[in-house]
Amino acid sequence: MLKVVDVKKTYQMGKTELEVLHGVSLEIKDGEFVCITGPSGSGKSTLMHIIGCLDRPTLGKLFLDDKEIGRLDDRTLAEIRNKKIGFVFQQFNLLPRATALHNVELPLIYGGASPKERVKRANLALEKVELSDRIHHRPSELSGGERQRVAIARALVNNPSFILADEPTGNLDTKTGDIILKLFQKLNKEGHAIVMVTHERYVTEYSGRTIHLKDGLIEEKNES
Ligand SMILES: Nc1ncnc2c1ncn2[C@@H]1O[C@H](COP(=O)(O)OP(=O)(O)O)[C@@H](O)[C@H]1O
Ligand SMILES: [Mg+2]
Repeated sequence: MLKVVDVKKTYQMGKTELEVLHGVSLEIKDGEFVCITGPSGSGKSTLMHIIGCLDRPTLGKLFLDDKEIGRLDDRTLAEIRNKKIGFVFQQFNLLPRATALHNVELPLIYGGASPKERVKRANLALEKVELSDRIHHRPSELSGGERQRVAIARALVNNPSFILADEPTGNLDTKTGDIILKLFQKLNKEGHAIVMVTHERYVTEYSGRTIHLKDGLIEEKNES
């Protein structure tokens, strides 16, 4: 379970303060598939970064499996994040010079797995996204959809309870986007909770629940 309670986020812009989230509370249960939707600038990415412990709230609390994690030191938080949460971004965020296999291995290097174990697990993750025939390709040698599948394999490699995805189809054509969304559905059926941020309404048809964000506040909830 991932939970944020009354989260506020303020960015400091020189002398002015910009409050982007005005008190957001939500809970993602294990195994759920939730979309967070809303117009551009509504605070979706900010919220996702906070849910995923990539950034800290200015005010409010953050829980993982009933344990408050918002006040942990950076190192402890990074360890928890590495084990429990996988990330997928619109721009794929792959290392350009590294092969697909090496990109997927990266999270395991921080986790201290042996090289042999790393290769085995990275291969398994790439198999799950049906890219076993592309493991030695570099990002520039892959299509957009294939790049995103490498990024999904990287998110999967630690077998996380939660996968957070920020506009994962934003750089893809509709047909390729559909393949990616179906892949997320498959991973959800296999037990991973998915939190997907999107401004595209049709994407919400793939999820079990949609949370609408508008101007830094949740508009309505529990409508699918
Ligand atoms: N690092 C930052 N510093 C200052 N302002 C930011 C920063 N990140 C985002 N913002 C502002 O916060 C608001 C919400 O941004 P964001 O969370 O990226 O929205 P969305 O993902 O819904 O498009 C925007 O007005 C944006 O300009
Ligand atoms: Mg965004």
